[in-house]
Amino acid sequence: MKETIVVTTLVENSVHARGLLAEHGLAFHLQAGPRSLLFDTGQSDLLLHNALKLRISLANAEAIVLSHGHSDHTGGVDAARQAAPKARFFLHPAAPSPKFAGSPDGTGRPIGMDAASAETICKAAKRIVWTATRTEVMEGIFVTGEIPRQNAFEDTGGPFFRDEAGAQPDPLLDDQALFFDTADGLVVLLGCAHSGVVNTLEYIQHLTGSRPIHAILGGLHLLTATPERMEKTLAAFRRLDIQRLAPGHCTGLPALAQLWTAFPARCSSCAVGASWVFQR
Ligand SMILES: [Fe+2]
Ligand SMILES: [Fe+2]
Repeated sequence: MKETIVVTTLVENSVHARGLLAEHGLAFHLQAGPRSLLFDTGQSDLLLHNALKLRISLANAEAIVLSHGHSDHTGGVDAARQAAPKARFFLHPAAPSPKFAGSPDGTGRPIGMDAASAETICKAAKRIVWTATRTEVMEGIFVTGEIPRQNAFEDTGGPFFRDEAGAQPDPLLDDQALFFDTADGLVVLLGCAHSGVVNTLEYIQHLTGSRPIHAILGGLHLLTATPERMEKTLAAFRRLDIQRLAPGHCTGLPALAQLWTAFPARCSSCAVGASWVFQR
């Protein structure tokens, strides 16, 4: 029998509907029949407000999956935990470690999990599933775990460090994507895609016997992409023949403009309240 999977944006940087609110961050809700999960939690407890307005109950969510440790994805961990007390956490072992963004004056700004989120994770010890490698979260719904960085054109660096002084680059090994197969092909939810969006999609294809990629939703982190990287990213999307794209969050306005220009009929908004229905 066919099953419907509904993905809804609970937190994103933009909003186009009355009563819903936006913040710099990302959180998706996924409903698969009677079962549900959260992918990321935004930067605050805003996901609760938006879930209420969207009439989405988090009470029975089985999993809170974290794409990586940055605070714009993990700031709502405590709120999510309280709203979904039965949920297990799925995160990479490097996600809770200290993370900083470099500043021109040489002092780092903390951008990792805040104290409340880290404490919540710590207390949930028995309900944590560490996802260094591919892990099934719910039936047929997987997180990638660590993503190999194979493409030379995807600069997966950036001003990210493990220490405040900016001496140790943070390879963000915790970055992971969520994916599931449908009748039309794979659906991929991206947090920030710090591993590179093409690396991520090619790795998921490797894991799934090269199933076609039907849809990608979320952050593509192309803010600082060079023209060469953009060109090769667009060429990869054409080659992969991705049917539906909902780029948002950290994708960056110039990259968004290029994506919407290159794939006008395939792009849609990832703003708070957007939702997608898939059949599998
Ligand atoms: Fe982000
Ligand atoms: Fe990030």
